[in-house]
Amino acid sequence: MSQPLLEATGISHSFDYLLFSDIHFSIAAKQCIAIVGRSGSGKSTLLHIFSTFLQPDHGKVTLFGHDLYTLGDNEIESLRRYDVGIIFQFHYLFKGMSALENIDVATTLSGEDIDYDILKKLKIDHLMAHKTSELSGGEQQRVSIARVLSKKPRIIFADEPTGNLDNETAELVMDVLAAYTREHDAALVLVTHDESISARCDMLYRLENKVLERQR
Ligand SMILES: Nc1ncnc2c1ncn2[C@@H]1O[C@H](COP(=O)(O)OP(=O)(O)OP(=O)(O)O)[C@@H](O)[C@H]1O
Ligand SMILES: [Mg+2]
Repeated sequence: MSQPLLEATGISHSFDYLLFSDIHFSIAAKQCIAIVGRSGSGKSTLLHIFSTFLQPDHGKVTLFGHDLYTLGDNEIESLRRYDVGIIFQFHYLFKGMSALENIDVATTLSGEDIDYDILKKLKIDHLMAHKTSELSGGEQQRVSIARVLSKKPRIIFADEPTGNLDNETAELVMDVLAAYTREHDAALVLVTHDESISARCDMLYRLENKVLERQR
């Protein structure tokens, strides 16, 4: 197997109480791995730890060969800008801007061009002139996914990316994410409650009883 893009070893974290401990995880290019688990088990927290946003109490995260939480602010900023794509559980689009302007902000920051092919595949190309506030929840979700993919990240962390979507649109989003990872040698770590979505991933992990266990 190729060198992992992300490798996490011995990860533990607590907020008010111990959330999870001794977690081991790795993902290589072109892989898609799903993480499932009950609400409150710590899935989003784990994604934040994997994706530069939260230093764990214990353990090491190696991202693209860098010992992540030893990096300085500039290096972390650069990873976020160019290499790490995060599709949050709740999307954060700029409300006053049009869909196109929202995507343009991300591509300008990362030095990429807007990928109109992705907009078309996500069936949002006709919505680009609309203000965010004029779009449905599922349309906003797809704009935020397009925004993340347009910057051409090497690894994508997606926290329930299809949570607001009907089955057909959820499958469409998965098609786009899977095609992206194949075509760009990227990796996808996906949190989902949807079994038909997790079934499409190469591996499945469950976060339960404070540990992350591989299911298949
Ligand atoms: N910044 C924080 N400060 C304190 N507690 C937090 C913080 N972030 C999360 N928690 C707590 O940690 C626990 C796990 O939260 P997390 O969001 O990781 O769960 P989750 O598995 O993603 O749940 P869901 O499926 O509902 O999204 C929750 O009890 C939450 O209240
Ligand atoms: Mg969550």
